[in-house]
Amino acid sequence: IGIYIAALVLGYLFGSIPFGLILTRIAGTEDLRSIGSGNIGATNVLRTGRKGLAAATLLLDALKGTAAVLIAAGFGGAEAAMLAALGAFLGHLFPVWLKFKGGKGVAVYIGVLLGLFWPAALVFCVLWLATAYTTRYSSLSALVAAFITPIFLWWFGHPTMASLFAVLTLLLFWMHRENIKRLQSGTESRIGEKK
Ligand code: G3P
Repeated sequence: IGIYIAALVLGYLFGSIPFGLILTRIAGTEDLRSIGSGNIGATNVLRTGRKGLAAATLLLDALKGTAAVLIAAGFGGAEAAMLAALGAFLGHLFPVWLKFKGGKGVAVYIGVLLGLFWPAALVFCVLWLATAYTTRYSSLSALVAAFITPIFLWWFGHPTMASLFAVLTLLLFWMHRENIKRLQSGTESRIGEKK
């Protein structure tokens, strides 16, 4: 049981590092939380106009999840890896350092998926890109990809992982509740728009 708690805590600590905030602060751009959606993720970093910084945020927010999963797998096996994934996701969404107001979880979702079962991360990215290419909505792309992921995992014979990601998808939808309202009312900003 100690190993499982360690995996969860390790995941949380990795997940709670807000790379979007750290990178934009180092680069001296506008405060992320006062522009666009106010979110700390890569999509909102893009609204500062800094594409490289947005890409770095996406990469680091994803890789912190991958790292947590791989480290936990190393010391505790497959179950510890899944707990680290849960911890990393919760850490990103509810970081103690930011009074529990973190991000929406898309990058870290991809990152933990990459560490646990990379083909599913690939499927997620393809779905995200296909939806983004046709609609230009970052949020909708994430919602579509995250909706399909647990089904894909279940279909490919990973029922435990499917259950875990079903929970993560529910949380991800909850974090996107304002985006969903904006999508419904047609006021969601598209990729490349500054709003
Ligand atoms: O995934 C983050 C993205 O889905 C939405 O970000 O800043 O448009 O709320 P944002």
